[in-house]
Amino acid sequence: SEERLRRVRDRVRPFPDFPVPGVLFRDISPLLKDPAAFRTLIDLLEDHLRVSHPKIDFIAGVDSRGFLIGPPLAQRLGIGFVLIRKKGKLPGPTESISYALEYGTAELEIQSDAVEAGQKVVIVDDLLATGGTMYAACELVKRLKAEVLECLVIIELKLLKGSEKLKSIPFYSLLQYD
Ligand code: PRP
Ligand code: HPA
Repeated sequence: SEERLRRVRDRVRPFPDFPVPGVLFRDISPLLKDPAAFRTLIDLLEDHLRVSHPKIDFIAGVDSRGFLIGPPLAQRLGIGFVLIRKKGKLPGPTESISYALEYGTAELEIQSDAVEAGQKVVIVDDLLATGGTMYAACELVKRLKAEVLECLVIIELKLLKGSEKLKSIPFYSLLQYD
């Protein structure tokens, strides 16, 4: 499986000074473009979830790059996918939460009927940086009285210590960078 992990890692491209000077941006575009590598990515995430959490009700994906890996993963597991979107995109009753960005704040929403009390949810995104986005997504799921089994990302930026923000919520990353 080290070999499979390497095939995925080889398709993450570093971009210096994006979106601002001093930031090394981890770009997953090459991973999405290579069908064998993308399949391997979903294989690895599926294997992890089958072993760690045999009874998941829903995969919840975070707008926008959580929408790229959440649906194929949910299909593999034979379960449904629900949306956690940026503010103002979802019709009907919603729960919303604001969270801190590097500059300013943003807001995430979930439809109030997306999941039911007691259901078991895994939240997915492409990347964990400060953890602010993932923490807010967890809060939304918990407001619906559902259980967050795990937060799962492809890439963890270790130096930002985002996993500490998630406190006791189980967290899994496939690839780690300093
Ligand atoms: C990126 C990334 C995560 C989040 C991580 O999304 O896809 O969702 O930032 O950062 P954090 O851990 O510091 O909160 P972004 O907000 O750029 O939105 P996008 O997916 O719409 O591009
Ligand atoms: N890459 C992609 N998305 C991001 C990053 C990054 O390095 N940091 C925050 N969001």
